[in-house]
Amino acid sequence: MSAPQSAARRTVLKGAAALAGAAGAGPVLAACSTETRSGADSPAVPTAPVELGAASEVPVGGAKLFRESKLVVSCQEAGRYKAFSAQCTHAGCVLDKIVEGEGNCPCHGSRFDVTTGKVLRGPASDPLPEVPVKVEGGKLVAG
Ligand code: FES
Repeated sequence: MSAPQSAARRTVLKGAAALAGAAGAGPVLAACSTETRSGADSPAVPTAPVELGAASEVPVGGAKLFRESKLVVSCQEAGRYKAFSAQCTHAGCVLDKIVEGEGNCPCHGSRFDVTTGKVLRGPASDPLPEVPVKVEGGKLVAG
């Protein structure tokens, strides 16, 4: 009679260990998720038009990052703008700065050409998605 009880007890203990392991892994995964995918909890591109402010804030021949809107807008010639998602295509972090025409991802170091969205340095392999942008009353409206 003791053998079946012992087997049953081992089964219970294994189950408890599995549950403890799963419970222990939860916060670790959540912390990792928060760190590597910040900004990934909302769409990469706007689902409705977003006003970004005065078009004049984007210099001709330059670009501006709109981190809160997760967009980057460039202007290669006066009056012609291009917008891209500023959410990295690797794991979803939002670009943190533009250095010499390259959008920098702070999480793993990917770089993107902010005039084309093209990947200049991995680990990201997909370009930034382009977002329609226009000027209305002197203000940039994207999406
Ligand atoms: S999220 Fe990994 S490089 Fe951007």
